[in-house]
Formats: sequence, C-alpha cells, structure tokens
Amino acid sequence: MENQHTKKVLVVNGPNLGRLGVRQPDVYGSENFETLREKCEKWGAELGFEVEVRQSDDEAQMVHWMHEAADTHTPVVMNPAAFTHYSYALADAAHMVLDAGVPLMEVHISNPAARDAFRKISVISPVATGTITGMGLYGYKLALEAVAHLV
Ligand code: DQA
Repeated sequence: MENQHTKKVLVVNGPNLGRLGVRQPDVYGSENFETLREKCEKWGAELGFEVEVRQSDDEAQMVHWMHEAADTHTPVVMNPAAFTHYSYALADAAHMVLDAGVPLMEVHISNPAARDAFRKISVISPVATGTITGMGLYGYKLALEAVAHLV
C-alpha cells in the first residue's frame, strides 16, 4: 500500500549511528552519517521515493517516529542499533507500523549474528517485514528496494 500523500520512506537510525566513520570503522566502515544520508536519498530517488533520513540516540524519539510513520502510512527502513537487542517499547511501536499496513525493513550494517552473544537476539525482527544484515551501507539500498517491491 502506498502512503497516502507522497511516496515517502522514513529511514530511521538508532543510537551511536551518528558516529559512523569514527565508531569502529573495522565493523561499520569509514563512511560517515552524512554519506549514509546522501546515499539513501539518491537510492530512494532512483526508486521514486522521497527519503528522509533521521538518527537519534533517544529511545522515546525513535518510538515517536514509529507513531508518526503509522499515522501517516509511511514505510520505514530502520537500523535500531543497540535498541534492537532489548527495546520492547520500540518493538511495540514497530508493530504499529505493520498494523497500519506499511512495511518496516530492519537493517544492520554489520552481521550481529556473527558478533557478541547479546547481539544474536533481535526483539525487532519478529515485528519487521524483513531483515537485512551484514551488507554495510549497501544494506539500506537493499531495504529500499524491498520497500519498493512491497508497496
Ligand atoms: C548495528 C548492530 C547493533 O548490534 C549495534 O548495537 C549497532 C549497529 C549494525 O548496524 O550493525 O549500533 O545495528
């Protein structure tokens, strides 16, 4: 289902992802958050989407963005970062996006399943339309393509 107003997609990033390029470049790469933003906007435009890229270290802000996406029927690409592993509040909010009839794709730059034990659990995956891991920033392109396929 297409969102009612524009073909908008919200790309939401959780805690510490604003530090891309500086934070563990061996794991997350050397490209910074602004590059991620530019790439997502370009990849989205190629698919006919207006992409808005956001980042927050704040769980409440992320939850409120899910409410906004549900209310406006806007598909979501989300890298929940560390919230992935324990935020039932964000999982409940993500569920509302799916209940609104729009897709929510979960993305991880690294492959959490191949890392620390605490990263092997995602409380978001059970309520996501699909999950893409381990593909670096390219994973966001794959997630946007998945949204294009689904709407
Ligand atoms: C991450 C993986 C998470 O385990 C971690 O807490 C992050 C980033 C990723 O993109 O690979 O902050 O979501």
